[in-house]
Amino acid sequence: MTNKYSNIKKDDFKSYATTLRSNMCGELNFGMVDSKVKLCGWVNKRRDHGKLIFIDLRDFSGLIQVVFDANINEASYSIAKEIRAEYIISIEGTLKARTAETVNRDLATGDVEVAADSINILSRSKTPPYALDERDRVDEMSRLKYRYVDLRTEDMQENLRLRHKVSSTTRQYLNSNGFIEVETPILAKSTPEGARDFLVPSRLNPGNFYALPQSPQLYKQILMFSGFDRIYQIARCFRDEDLRADRQPEFTQIDLEMSFVSVDDVIKLIEGLITKIFTEVLGMELALPFKRLTWRHSMETYGTDKPDLRFGMQITDLTDIFKNSQFNIFINVLSRKGVIKGLKVDDGSQFTRKDLDDFVYTAKKYGAGGLIWMKVESNNVLNSPVAKFLTDGEKQLLIERLDLHENNLVLIVADQFLKTCSALGVLRNYLGHRLNLIDLDAFNFAWVVDFPLFEFDDREKRLSPMHHPFTSPSPDSMDMLDMEPLGVKSLAYDIVLNGNEIGGGSIRINDIELQKKIFKILGFDDKRIEDNFGFFLRALQYGAPPHGGIALGMDRLVMIIGRLESIREVIAFPKTQSAYCMMTESPSVVTEQQLSEVSIKLSPIKKRDQE
Ligand code: AMO
Repeated sequence: MTNKYSNIKKDDFKSYATTLRSNMCGELNFGMVDSKVKLCGWVNKRRDHGKLIFIDLRDFSGLIQVVFDANINEASYSIAKEIRAEYIISIEGTLKARTAETVNRDLATGDVEVAADSINILSRSKTPPYALDERDRVDEMSRLKYRYVDLRTEDMQENLRLRHKVSSTTRQYLNSNGFIEVETPILAKSTPEGARDFLVPSRLNPGNFYALPQSPQLYKQILMFSGFDRIYQIARCFRDEDLRADRQPEFTQIDLEMSFVSVDDVIKLIEGLITKIFTEVLGMELALPFKRLTWRHSMETYGTDKPDLRFGMQITDLTDIFKNSQFNIFINVLSRKGVIKGLKVDDGSQFTRKDLDDFVYTAKKYGAGGLIWMKVESNNVLNSPVAKFLTDGEKQLLIERLDLHENNLVLIVADQFLKTCSALGVLRNYLGHRLNLIDLDAFNFAWVVDFPLFEFDDREKRLSPMHHPFTSPSPDSMDMLDMEPLGVKSLAYDIVLNGNEIGGGSIRINDIELQKKIFKILGFDDKRIEDNFGFFLRALQYGAPPHGGIALGMDRLVMIIGRLESIREVIAFPKTQSAYCMMTESPSVVTEQQLSEVSIKLSPIKKRDQE
């Protein structure tokens, strides 16, 4: 095992010596030949060569070959004969050099082996559901069901050690920057962050419920009111939302709050933290400061507020080219103050008609009315179903604006600003991967700032906060709050890594009147304000310093720096996409008595298929 993430140096293994073992398997080397060793571990493999039995013994540090020779020690040899994969054994023996022809260059300890004098079986194992080296070929549901076996694999050992390194480096960094770690309740009051709450019935207060925290947001703000100045928490958060590869119903944030700070202070602190994590955990230097983009620029250029900056292919605005267009779709869109934007794909010749239909489908799926494609043929002739609706002048301007050449493909969306940008942003990401434009070794960080304070929730037909309701409007747009709330910017910031949002935060409101006003603009009536936030407004009455903070999604961060595909790879016991734990088979039914103790009566339930 390489321990490429965990940075465990050879001498660190000294602390692992116990009464049962002298050394770790992976630390044994040529310089230790002839020493007596006592080892404990799992049987990775056993090979029976007649009078000789070879066992690859494994602990988290690596593998070592142990040899049992019937001619030398018959008793140990016969015990070794019964050994099977994943038995846990202890052995004593002498470290020997391997002969030149038996050296195994693929194994870190491959030039030595242990000649065993004695063996003890510490625990037997049934035949495991799959061999550890088959992990890549095993269905994830089986791996999650037998998670204790899956966690023995080198991949999972390294992933969780990487995670530990990230959290311990974070603690060291924050401790040395004046932060203290404060825990806040898990049995909490709902503080809406946009997702559904997990509820916990209270036995002592029948009919009442706690909510598991979606984040410790209000607690950390209140700790600022109490003068702690800088606090952090590696906080477990719970959100009942639809899951994806980068989302879990319970996940972990590096959550912090600071008093008397500006946006720049929080950004600088986090850049210091990320740099330290990269240097200490990955041995990589990062260039500071990270790029900063305004939300508007990010949407316009990359079609998303989490831009993947590892490749170009930026979105270009084409609205002015078509301002006098006779093409119906453009006329309609422009009359409704919409925009026309396009993406140029350099090598467009490879895309089939089916690909182009798929692009149209994708654009529609992400809310745009449709998508227009144009293939550039020789002499810059535009081949497109809509070419006949465009004037020669418009075509010429398009060719110049996008610097078009033969074999280029142009994808154009015309719709409202957000729909147009989002549809092209999804296509840009797809094409970046499909055309291998992305440097998969790169780590590209950016800050997105100047978010709007509110967005329009199409489903609910009302304003909702872009981050959360405690985010401060930016002072220079505060006067638009009453007349044009959608134009108000906020003091919020997100940190993005390779196209993933790995954190978000803001400078908070510390003025009670402004806080009440924001609740009102969000459409909360007095009763809702009192029920949900009365406690918080009361706290604000007793003095609140200017403060701000951020939360980094720790699982996501570890997933990306470990170059892993799913967040489940960095969580010891994750849930499936349907929020189910395959290993413990939870959630599960509870007894009538448990329900009656918390005054709950279930209505008839439709059974949902488990995965
Ligand atoms: P936010 O909701 O943006 O901010 O969350 C912060 C970060 O947490 C990660 N994250 C998740 N990771 C895994 N699974 C999930 N279901 C999930 N949801 C979010 C993301 C995200 O950027 N209270 C504010 C922070 C603040 O203002 O200080 C908050 O929670 O990486």
